Amino acid sequence: METGQQERMNIVIVGHVDHGKSTVIGRLLADTGSLPQGKLEAVKLACERNAKPFEYAFLLDALKDEQAQGITIDTARVFFKSDKRHYIIIDAPGHIEFLKNMITGAARAEAALLVIDAQEGIRENSRRHGYLMSMLGIKQLIVLVNKMDLVEYSQAAFDTICSEYAAFLEQIHVHPKYIIPIAAREGENLIHASSRMPWYNGPSVLQAMDAMQKEIPDVSKALRFPVQDIYKFTAENDDRRIVAGTIATGEVRVGDAVTFYPSQKKSRIKSIEGFNVPSQNSAQSGQATGVTLETQIYIRSGEVMAKESDPAPFVSSAFRAHVFWLGKRPLIKEKRYKLKIGTHRVPVYVKTVHRVLDASSLDADSDKQQLDRHDVGDVEFEAVRPLAFDLSGEFEQTGRFVLVDEYDIAGGGIIVAAVQASTTATETFAARRNFAWVRGDISPSHRAIRYRQEPIFVLIVGAPGTGKAAIATALEKDLFERDQVVYYLGVDNITLGLDRDVSGQFEDRDEHIRRIGETAHLMMDAGLIVISTISDVDDGDVKRLMALASPFRTLVAAVGEWPFEWADSAIMMLAEHDTAAVDRIVGALRPFLHS
Ligand code: GTP
Ligand code: MG
Repeated sequence: METGQQERMNIVIVGHVDHGKSTVIGRLLADTGSLPQGKLEAVKLACERNAKPFEYAFLLDALKDEQAQGITIDTARVFFKSDKRHYIIIDAPGHIEFLKNMITGAARAEAALLVIDAQEGIRENSRRHGYLMSMLGIKQLIVLVNKMDLVEYSQAAFDTICSEYAAFLEQIHVHPKYIIPIAAREGENLIHASSRMPWYNGPSVLQAMDAMQKEIPDVSKALRFPVQDIYKFTAENDDRRIVAGTIATGEVRVGDAVTFYPSQKKSRIKSIEGFNVPSQNSAQSGQATGVTLETQIYIRSGEVMAKESDPAPFVSSAFRAHVFWLGKRPLIKEKRYKLKIGTHRVPVYVKTVHRVLDASSLDADSDKQQLDRHDVGDVEFEAVRPLAFDLSGEFEQTGRFVLVDEYDIAGGGIIVAAVQASTTATETFAARRNFAWVRGDISPSHRAIRYRQEPIFVLIVGAPGTGKAAIATALEKDLFERDQVVYYLGVDNITLGLDRDVSGQFEDRDEHIRRIGETAHLMMDAGLIVISTISDVDDGDVKRLMALASPFRTLVAAVGEWPFEWADSAIMMLAEHDTAAVDRIVGALRPFLHS
């Protein structure tokens, strides 16, 4: 598809304000003959008439206005081609917008041009942007030392900036492919070698761009397939499901034994479906595809599919990362942030701030316990449930994440280490809550004697339509008639009440689960037996509910099947439409009922 003439490359251009980004782009367009006929002259003439000096940046503005006429420029992207390939240059207007686009993949750049003003020298953003590039995994960097005309095209001036900036990049392990002295406005070293800087014998900007390597999809790497969505076939009697997503690395073939993480569920690839194309035998990294599995397993979006024969991703609820913080509000402890990694979304908390660096000076402030805007930190995070991830040095996409503060993308980061976590954030918080719990003079044992029972959470799980609610209500009635103090907590009641501020979006599911668990916990603390039902749970949900219910016990009754790898003495299986279900649960509750 993308070969020869058609090859395209995305390059992002960054740098401090006024160092000349727009001029570089405008000049590249003009000198590669990419402008519409007469455009350059027209803009120059308009400037003359208004007695203002011509700027290449005006050229870009003028082209924007012509979008309607099919000119190939839009707000942030400029298109042109060299003899070698087509380029899309992304002008990064602000960090946040840029970071958002880069991480969501809307604007994935394969290389970066970083512009530094020769006269002004290295400024905050020269450093910050360098850091950001490395954090975003952009490995091909070309540094342009611009406005060389203002320093008389002096080699000494160039060398000073070169060595200072190279030393900075060294600290963040970035190795620029080229550092090129240019004068964008004058067109020096943009397309051809400049006669004004005979001491420089490297490539021009365009030659350096052409020398950048196209990222080849890494098929040889281990498979990482972040699950985006599960689709059901719409045809009647077709109960197959398509697991859809874009392959991040590696290759998947029909017949491959695969494991999904973090759930650890296993199956085998039955078919690889294309979108509007016939099914294939294999699919490779970079491809958006869908697979069907030989066995029916329940998985949700956010899981990562890997081959059983490949190294597995890490599964843990804690990890250590380098974070670049862009939020208006600082990154602080005790606050819930949404982590987006691959297709997964999970609430996380800052556990430890190991080190904070000023992103431009790289000065460390080891006592600082929060990250302010533009800080870079070495931070340990704790998630409310285990998640699957890789180290960014090994896997680009599954090792990189975005942090969302309320509704704003506020930071990005790369995972540098997995942390063995004995507890999830949910368990940590539940333990802390239990420790600090305030009571009146009535103790749990007073209530147990009065109500003749130990509180317990009966959680009935299973697919939708398996009769969970019928079992729950019958159980409530049965226990009530035995004079037990029992309450059926209908999940819909929570959705419409306590959860009214939580949108129905999947992303808020974790908060929904938390509130069910906390509500059940409160009622048990009041001495009740609480019964609730929940559909489509994954094992993370069940474990969280059990943690939230603590110190009270949870009895999980699974209708249909127990789809998880782990077992627990407090789990019982119920067949669908099991008429004896109620009796069986009451039987299991015996030790909690005092006669
Ligand atoms: P922002 O988008 O505002 O961040 O700026 P920018 O990085 O896009 O800079 P721009 O290209 O607008 O250039 C800023 C100023 O530097 C303009 O007045 C340009 O004419 C001037 N400039 C750009 N390149 C050169 C150069 O090679 N030599 C000299 N002397 N001036 C230049
Ligand atoms: Mg500009």
